[in-house]
Amino acid sequence: MNLQNKEVKITKRLKELALTIRKHNILYHQKDNPEITDGEFDKLIKENNELEKKYPHLILKESPNNSLGTEVSNKFEKIEHKAKMLSLANAFNKKDLEDFVDRIKKFLNKSSSSKIDFICEPKIDGLSLNLYYKKGKLTSATTRGDGTIGENVINNIYNVTDIPKELISSNVPKEIEIRGEIYLEKKDFFVLNSKLLDNEKFSNPRNAAAGSLRQLDPNITKNRPLKFIAHGLGYSNKKYSSIENFYNDLKLWKMPFNEIIEKVDTINAMYIFYKKIENIRSKINYDIDGIVYKVNDYNIQNRLGFVGKNPRWAVALKFSAEKTSTKILEIDLQVGRTGAITPVARLETVNIGGVLVSNASLHNFDEIEKKDIRINDLVEIQRAGDVIPQIVKVIKKSKNRGNKILLPTNCPTCKSPTIKEEDEAILRCTNPNDCKDQIIGQLIHFSSKKSLNIDGFGEKQIKQFYELKFIRKIEDIFSLQKYKKQIITLNGWGDLSFNNLIIAINNSKNIELDKFIFSLGIRYIGETISKILAKEFLDINEFLKNMSNKDRLLLIDGLGPKAINSLLNFFKRKTNLITLNKLIKIINVNNFKKINKLSFFTNKNIIFTGTLKKMSREECKYLAQQLGAKITSSISKNTDFLIVGEKPGSKLKKAKELKINILTEEEWIKKTNQ
Ligand code: IVH
Repeated sequence: MNLQNKEVKITKRLKELALTIRKHNILYHQKDNPEITDGEFDKLIKENNELEKKYPHLILKESPNNSLGTEVSNKFEKIEHKAKMLSLANAFNKKDLEDFVDRIKKFLNKSSSSKIDFICEPKIDGLSLNLYYKKGKLTSATTRGDGTIGENVINNIYNVTDIPKELISSNVPKEIEIRGEIYLEKKDFFVLNSKLLDNEKFSNPRNAAAGSLRQLDPNITKNRPLKFIAHGLGYSNKKYSSIENFYNDLKLWKMPFNEIIEKVDTINAMYIFYKKIENIRSKINYDIDGIVYKVNDYNIQNRLGFVGKNPRWAVALKFSAEKTSTKILEIDLQVGRTGAITPVARLETVNIGGVLVSNASLHNFDEIEKKDIRINDLVEIQRAGDVIPQIVKVIKKSKNRGNKILLPTNCPTCKSPTIKEEDEAILRCTNPNDCKDQIIGQLIHFSSKKSLNIDGFGEKQIKQFYELKFIRKIEDIFSLQKYKKQIITLNGWGDLSFNNLIIAINNSKNIELDKFIFSLGIRYIGETISKILAKEFLDINEFLKNMSNKDRLLLIDGLGPKAINSLLNFFKRKTNLITLNKLIKIINVNNFKKINKLSFFTNKNIIFTGTLKKMSREECKYLAQQLGAKITSSISKNTDFLIVGEKPGSKLKKAKELKINILTEEEWIKKTNQ
């Protein structure tokens, strides 16, 4: 057989295997009705994997191992959103709202008395969902995921009667992403909870909606009356001029959108809307936690763009926290992954605005001392949105109140000494290498969604494997295969679930540099700083090479002294270096991608001078950044373009001397579209 024929045959077999594996996976996971034994299923997986190993160039897009493939590798199919799903910046008072509107006007170079139309709507406390319609047919329904890739929960969405499965009208775009919120009405939440056992009850409607949405068995979702309200547009090949305009189409398509809505153009009207809705909040059928304000005009939205993950054109003005009182039953100490020891109050369960609360964070020991909180006291607690409830104050000291809570001198988990660093309110365990809770916390962080995203490997599984000594360090996750025999006999595990875990672990081995940095769980190195570091060093080797170089770290814009010290400390520890060395041999860390698309200004050094009429300096800078240009401040022979507004000053003269390309404002704007 010649090579070509052989490859055709292998591709055919891989396709058959992908289809068969997918079918049996659905029968097992979703229908609870397997047709073959686990052993037979394993054989199929083995055959597929061996072929893929031998012929990597023939791996199919729909391969069972491909995370963008089917439900085989993970619980749900992973799908990339056509347009990113973002989150909203929060405002907490009228002043924040004023600042939001002022910032927008400044960015757009508009006077403060100019008018901009805003759409005001309640912020529904549910889960965002992206409905993708192709030629009018609902083809996927994805959760937000990490904003770029979400999980396809369409099988469960078929049971949501609110959501049209087909958009019927003459003007349906070829492709459209409609975004909105999936939620449970308050009354349905209570009915659902009343049917569940105590240890299965959900603590609030949002969690109940989340639990229902991610059920593998669509029959369960069927009995949970999820609802949907559309509130946004993702990708669409039909261009809309405004939100209003888009909502008109939603109406035609019988897609529910919020009836509580107003279009206004003054801060006062915006605030009146907030007050009005806050007053009727408890009478609304579903949980809301604030008001969302969004610029109505899509052209203006595009100009405003984003800051990090938040659009500049929208904000959520949050309602103040809901309060109630209850009794403290116990005060426990929890040790987090960075060694922080946090006191947690166990409470007599209370209902705050429809949510059952039985724990509250006490933050740190200073706070307990200041508020003189003790066991048996009656306390006021408050809850704001999804945030962990907090204790505001002691309302009544109990007659038999407990002893004063003292700062523990030893870690409650590993008994090592504790330390409270200067200028820090937090007490910490000093033994990161052997403290069980710290290690488990690090393992959970490493495999969590925003890090390696190992599906199906959460707190429960990690604790189980830790106790059995299968994993003690991060790198052990990648050699779980050797415990297959023991694991498949464990309660809750079998061949299939073990294989799925191994596939999820394998999928996680391909990761972006910023996510990898974040996954290490270094104190003060959160998502934003991880991105800054990835942007700075671009590849993993450069990153690692510079982590002990204080002078180099000091040069990075956005890195404060705490972050720098924390990095230096982390990379000083031998155990961390050993782990990192092992990890980079196992994991493929992708280089950070600096720019998404090439433009006329990509990689060009540009300078602005003088006053531009149409764009604020902030908008110019933002646009230049989007286009991949570098903005510099002083003219040199490396400058590619000087963009000149009114009253340019000395830079123009120098640019002429150095024969640098000079662009007027009009030329700049024209070229930004090339
Ligand atoms: S507009 C940035 N309108 O809040 C995207 N969002 O943190 C603009 N949400 O993920 C969203 N009610 O799922 C918008 N009336 C509403 C909303 C709303 C709830 C959610 C949304 C988003 C989250 C932002």
